[in-house]
Amino acid sequence: MLTFKKTTLALALAGATLATTAQAAEVEVLHWWTSGGEARAANVLKELMEAEGYGWQDFAVAGGGGETAMTVLKSRAMSGNPPSAAQIKGPEIQEWGELGLLGDLNEVAEAEGWDELLPEVVADIMRYDGQYVAVPVNVHRVNWLWANPAVLEAAGVEMPTTLDEMFAAGEAIREAGYVPLAHGGQSWQDATVFESVLLGGQGSEFYQQALVELDPEALGGEQMIAALEDFKRTRELMDDGMSGRDWNIATAMVIEGTAGMQLMGDWAKGEFTAAGLTAGEDYLCAAAPGTEDAFTFNIDSLAMFRVTDEGEHDAQQALARLVLEPTFQEAFNLAKGSIPARPDLDMSEFDSCAQQSLADFQRTADEGGLVPSMAHGMAVRADVQGAIFDVVTNYFNDANMPAEEAAQRMVRAAQAAAF
Ligand code: GAL
Repeated sequence: MLTFKKTTLALALAGATLATTAQAAEVEVLHWWTSGGEARAANVLKELMEAEGYGWQDFAVAGGGGETAMTVLKSRAMSGNPPSAAQIKGPEIQEWGELGLLGDLNEVAEAEGWDELLPEVVADIMRYDGQYVAVPVNVHRVNWLWANPAVLEAAGVEMPTTLDEMFAAGEAIREAGYVPLAHGGQSWQDATVFESVLLGGQGSEFYQQALVELDPEALGGEQMIAALEDFKRTRELMDDGMSGRDWNIATAMVIEGTAGMQLMGDWAKGEFTAAGLTAGEDYLCAAAPGTEDAFTFNIDSLAMFRVTDEGEHDAQQALARLVLEPTFQEAFNLAKGSIPARPDLDMSEFDSCAQQSLADFQRTADEGGLVPSMAHGMAVRADVQGAIFDVVTNYFNDANMPAEEAAQRMVRAAQAAAF
């Protein structure tokens, strides 16, 4: 996805230096937070910036998972006119850093004591070449199962805790007249379900070997084949209308009670919250079946582009400072469904799902099982992720492709994308 050639890189760099036209004391922020819950969350930052006298230019590019946003960002950067800040995550921060396009946040990081404030696993992702170039807004957990308790009750089933239980519950839900698993057929959503099912059936060590280290033996072996078969089975729990459906529309099916469950990261909780629902009563959350001892993390962060305009530079520093302040961390994450990026905050306002997320984050960090989400750009570079997405989605939609072949394609995807 992010593949710049050396020549175009030089052009982009030259352009970036010339881009001094942005208005003073204003930030333009690219993100893809456009669903009901996400927009409420993004608005928190806009209001805090405006309260400090800075202008906010919203550069929202719709499309869950951010693939479209990244394409748009790339073309803006190539024309020498990147925004002040953009939601760039995980290893992709390194890719933008290598292009020399990011500005550093060391001053504010030092003044605010980020080194002491942030868990090392989070801080590490925010630095390029030892310098802070991005600020974390939250920690999302991807391996969640959401459910409508009334639908489960109508089907006479409990919240499943293993893959076998999920398939059995799904069948009962279908017999009771509901869609078992709400899903949108988009490759990032397919990959989201795939990684949770792989984690649930094969465990976090295998997840790490296959989807983080890209070990060819893991990618092409028996466990991958079993994971792919489990993944294909989830299709039987989905409805015919899933093709192209946005993730928040799938969440709405659970909210409205036409579907029983959804496998999705906790931005889905932002939708339940925006609908005025209460965790544990109106909707249920649990670790994705079989994954209670694991946590796939997805850290949203804003990276700052190198700018020459002083006002814009000041505004960027203020933005970075505000993002890690308790006021923003609390208000944003309550709306977004995630937990704060800094672990020292009072969590009493947060619901039971968020409390569980924090406890599980800390437990898996200490005991093992904390792994980066492949589907959400935290595990591998963008080109490898794109190649894996292609295999996952093609396999999911091809009734005739055996899991063995998909596993072989997975090995080739990791190799081909490596260089
Ligand atoms: C993720 C992102 C979340 C949420 C989700 C759906 O990649 O980290 O913040 O926006 O996509 O768009």
